[in-house]
Amino acid sequence: MIRLGSLQHVGLDIGSHSIKIVVLEKTGQRFRLKAHLVYPVYAAGEMFDPDGPKKSVVGPRLLGAFNQMGLAPRKIKGLASAIGGPAVAAKEIKSVQMTDEDMDSSLMLEARKHLPLDGSETIVDYQILGDDPNEADKIRVLLVAATRKFFQTHLETMRDIELKPGIVDIDQLAMLNSYNQFNDLPDDGVLIFLNVGCRKTNLSVTGRKSMFFTRDIPIAGYNFTQDLMKRFDISYDEAEQVKITQGMEPDLPAVGSSAGAGLALADKSPFERLGDEINRSLRYYVKETGQSYFHSIILSGGAAVTKGLDEYLKHKFNLPVSIYDPCAGLETGGKVIEAGTQLSIAVGLALRAE
Ligand SMILES: Nc1ncnc2c1ncn2[C@@H]1O[C@H](COP(=O)(O)OP(=O)(O)OP(=O)(O)O)[C@@H](O)[C@H]1O
Ligand SMILES: [Mg+2]
Repeated sequence: MIRLGSLQHVGLDIGSHSIKIVVLEKTGQRFRLKAHLVYPVYAAGEMFDPDGPKKSVVGPRLLGAFNQMGLAPRKIKGLASAIGGPAVAAKEIKSVQMTDEDMDSSLMLEARKHLPLDGSETIVDYQILGDDPNEADKIRVLLVAATRKFFQTHLETMRDIELKPGIVDIDQLAMLNSYNQFNDLPDDGVLIFLNVGCRKTNLSVTGRKSMFFTRDIPIAGYNFTQDLMKRFDISYDEAEQVKITQGMEPDLPAVGSSAGAGLALADKSPFERLGDEINRSLRYYVKETGQSYFHSIILSGGAAVTKGLDEYLKHKFNLPVSIYDPCAGLETGGKVIEAGTQLSIAVGLALRAE
């Protein structure tokens, strides 16, 4: 049983593949990793739903995860959770200085213009990032929008198990929050963050003085698994196992190898498709901002450790690639945390939880 004092911070990242929970305890300026868990959204044998898990599926699993940690959801006070995916969008804009009231109404209009969320009813939030280094009378504003329905479902999922929702962040910002706590962004140029999950890869580009940009690419761990299923004619569960133990080039007989050779050449691998999408986004970023000084690529998320992915990206973009360990700045009693990078968003959330 974990006893939750007032200094405890809980980060909850509900993904389409797994639920990540991190409990931090703050002593002075240090954060201690008190507990953590990666818990699958689907029980063994259950089929992964590429459209995302239903609330009726997530609820019981969420309760199962807290139970396994010995945490009673209704006793948790300092919680932060995140939303992400196609029902969420974020964009940095420039704005003139104005009063809070004017800001609220003006940004609602701006958000409609900049963040197209299929016309559904949306909720909008914003965060002032600071003065614009290029235009003296302007400020940098980060707009965030989500469809109301998606946001409400997120809150209901938590309330259903008597979990009191606290701060709700978006995936990309929670990831950056984790990074910023223990690392500095470059003064000149930008870093490329790739959170490679199951259904999607969040790409974010940011630097101290450069525009923040983010986009979801619908290629990640699930697509890696699917590729193995097709090439080697194996089940989803088998392909997951093969991916984790052997990577994307396993020692298995490929199906129809001679007849399929032409096809295989024409079909791009999921790494290549991901690489192409990243490339497209970076070109767009350079065109929009004039900023083309990319320092390095920082990988996180469960599928970040897929064998060969870091090497592939390193060669494709000719940049250093590292796998982010969100626990490196935490007190862990000397322990190395397995699946550490999968916890990146949950750590970023826990650091913000009040
Ligand atoms: N050791 C490993 N090697 C390769 N892939 C792995 C490994 N461990 C986990 N994965 C993959 O990581 C993915 C899950 O990562 P993560 O928990 O970040 O996703 P998620 O947050 O649930 O999904 P999303 O954010 O896309 O909704 C799965 O596709 C899983 O197969
Ligand atoms: Mg995720």
